[in-house]
Amino acid sequence: MARIQIHGGVPLEGEVRISGAKNAVLPILVASLLGDGPSRVSNVPHLQDVTTTMELLGRMGAQLSVGDGMQIEIDPRSMEHYEAPYDLVKTMRASILVLGPLVARYGRAIVSLPGGCAIGSRPVDLHLRGLQALGAQVEVRNGNIEARADQLKGARIIMDTVTVTGTENILMAATLARGTTVIENAAQEPEVVDLADFLISMGAKIHGAGSNTITVEGVDRLEGTTYSVLPDRIETGTYLVGAAMTGGRVRCTRSRPAHLDAVLNKLADTGADIHVGEDWVELDMRGRRPRSVDITTAPYPGFPTDMQAQFTALNTIAEGTGVITETIFENRFMHVQELQRLGADISVKGKTAIIRGVSGLNGAPIMATDLRASASLVLAGLVAEGVTIVDRVYHLDRGYEIIEEKLSGLGARIKRIGSAAA
Ligand code: EPZ
Repeated sequence: MARIQIHGGVPLEGEVRISGAKNAVLPILVASLLGDGPSRVSNVPHLQDVTTTMELLGRMGAQLSVGDGMQIEIDPRSMEHYEAPYDLVKTMRASILVLGPLVARYGRAIVSLPGGCAIGSRPVDLHLRGLQALGAQVEVRNGNIEARADQLKGARIIMDTVTVTGTENILMAATLARGTTVIENAAQEPEVVDLADFLISMGAKIHGAGSNTITVEGVDRLEGTTYSVLPDRIETGTYLVGAAMTGGRVRCTRSRPAHLDAVLNKLADTGADIHVGEDWVELDMRGRRPRSVDITTAPYPGFPTDMQAQFTALNTIAEGTGVITETIFENRFMHVQELQRLGADISVKGKTAIIRGVSGLNGAPIMATDLRASASLVLAGLVAEGVTIVDRVYHLDRGYEIIEEKLSGLGARIKRIGSAAA
């Protein structure tokens, strides 16, 4: 199992180019199944989850080809299987996103029920209830979700909880339903808006994406399209936190700072100087130690749960005490015990972590447990004295494109090494 070795103590300096957003490209690749012709998607990040999604679509019979610069063409005209098997779903929960498109376009789907994962139980009940509201017959049998529908019909759906992929599944299905669908208490994340824009470019009639009420006028068919995926706001935030922790100065290019208000406000509270342009954002820490910040995660436009672990790491070496409350997932503090191995002073009580800043961390072998936790461990390694080795970096590869190359480009002493000696 590959590991990453970091020799801490170097401020991050320079420019880093931000990749396309993982949580936008996954639903967009799957949404291409709704079209009567091929779609071309560009600015696709080179990530394990993208590879898994391509394998899933390929197994269903879609034709995929990869152009230069990671442009992917998906041609759904040869689709012949409508299943997402357990061996793929267990590696990527977002496979559940095929459910809406398969039922809407092909009238049937068998999708393995995603299990829990490290950060929480992650139920999909709201996905299923939404599809049933649109007229699909949905059963859970032998660990599979089996859904059928001759013709979906528009409905008014009130989501009990704000769910990103739940909103996306219902949105995709509604595009081909007969009549009007209204999704109330919809997720407002920029990735939901990017998916809606992709669907609109295919001929879908969608209004209100980005607000808590999305209205969809069903159409008879959708065309293939060409589309470029929006930049990854979580990747951007991760590199900016790295600059703040190491006292450096980093400019993220090809990014979308307008999607990062809550994160940039908190970074400013740490004492960082922040400058933004249309498609770039720069953080300059001027060699200073960050101040502690208090965080409570919330659905967009609130503070993103996917940035919680990174700010937990920042607070470990900040001046003062920071209180971080995780409201979205029930077990998203797996990084805490690993940070404690580096010397962090953190106590967790239920959904809240209290982090007392220490003057420094010391490198040690640590283990990644989930995608964003692994990013926070790499960030901590950048400031820890001596060498930190992060194990199980496959978690990292799911959501961060060539992270060690991008960090090396910013001056970090970081490299990928082989698996631990047996
Ligand atoms: C998406 O996950 C993201 N993944 C997650 O990013 C992100 O952390 C999360 O949204 C929250 O922003 C993708 O977009 C592929 P949810 P998702 O449904 O859609 C509960 C990363 O690191 N819920 O918005 O699975 C659920 O338990 C990943 O990139 C139900 O109760 O999250 C949670 O408490 C991690 N029933 C809350 O809603 C349901 O049917 C929000 O979950 C669905 C969700």
